[in-house]
Amino acid sequence: MAATTIAGRCLAPAEGRTPKRAGAQRESLDMSEVMIEALDLSKRYDDSLALDKVSMEVRRGEVLGFLGPNGAGKSTTMKILTCFTAPTEGTAKVNGCDIFDDSLGVRKSIGYLPESTALYHDMLVLEYLQFVAEMRGLNGAEQRKQVKKVVEETGLEGVFAKGIQTLSKGYKQRVGLAQALLHEPPILILDEPMSGLDPNQAVEIRDLIKEIGRERTVILSTHNLAEVQVACDRVLIISKGRIVADDTPAGLSERAGKRRYLVTVQKSNGLSETSGCAALEKISGVQRVRSLAAEAEDELSFELLPTTDEDLRAPVFKAAVDNGYTLLDLHREGQNLEQVFRDLTTTESPDPEAHDAAAE
Ligand SMILES: Nc1ncnc2c1ncn2[C@@H]1O[C@H](COP(=O)(O)OP(=O)(O)O)[C@@H](O)[C@H]1O
Ligand SMILES: [Mg+2]
Repeated sequence: MAATTIAGRCLAPAEGRTPKRAGAQRESLDMSEVMIEALDLSKRYDDSLALDKVSMEVRRGEVLGFLGPNGAGKSTTMKILTCFTAPTEGTAKVNGCDIFDDSLGVRKSIGYLPESTALYHDMLVLEYLQFVAEMRGLNGAEQRKQVKKVVEETGLEGVFAKGIQTLSKGYKQRVGLAQALLHEPPILILDEPMSGLDPNQAVEIRDLIKEIGRERTVILSTHNLAEVQVACDRVLIISKGRIVADDTPAGLSERAGKRRYLVTVQKSNGLSETSGCAALEKISGVQRVRSLAAEAEDELSFELLPTTDEDLRAPVFKAAVDNGYTLLDLHREGQNLEQVFRDLTTTESPDPEAHDAAAE
């Protein structure tokens, strides 16, 4: 069966997909509590629709990866959830506070690291953190306590007396994380926190996020598949303003483990891309068929994704014979994660499992 369903919303992880990371603190968290709830968020900029009915639920203690190519709508979603911009349609609640009615409550609940952090480069690290703390209403002993705490938490002890402009990109990012933590928010929203870092810095920041995410709810966006695989409990994939998949990193790997079949047939009268797809979709065990660019003008190529691990080569051969197609090539190959990601973010038909999740 071909997947034609539009995944309009994406609800909480289904039972069995609740994050199960070990750790005494996390066990004490009530993970059933919904911390972020967005319903049908749309955002229109002039003539273009940047977000198209995005819905999600994020539970306490989850580290959610928000994965998508550039321009998919990640930053727009994050700006809406942090009250930096309003949706054209839809609603959201953060820690129980409505983004329209209680933006102060939302901002208090969230530590936000924007895509390009507005650091004051001519300040010392300590001065900057004191300045931000003051803006958030922290003064005197409380301010000193919180600044000390975030400096320790983000590993800034060795550089807090240095000018921000003298720091490496990795340390600047730590300062960005430290400011996000100052008011002890239960939720962190981090927009591409590892982007632009060298591989060593990226690993350090990723590990730091995992550490500070132990007791907090985190959404982090990225266009890098490997990052969500390592850092996140759950992954939402967004493409062209829509959620196209909601899965665990393990679930994504499982999809990647599935094989795909590449079929090439001779073009002939009555055989087109559409009729070929329709005929191949009828084969039992085929989940989805799409047409690929063929190598020669008189050929048609198709990709078949199976529903199970069952070998489809014989049924494909039989279908070709039954339909009178001249089969030129048939082979199966494993998919890697990049292929799964590309498939989800470049085709028009969204992921059926995202819809299944919505229906649960
Ligand atoms: N302020 C804006 N004005 C007009 N278009 C915008 C604005 N911000 C974002 N967009 C458009 O909205 C879409 C989604 O952008 P964005 O949320 O920044 O994507 P991502 O963060 O996934 O790269 C893009 O097509 C982008 O060009
Ligand atoms: Mg962005």
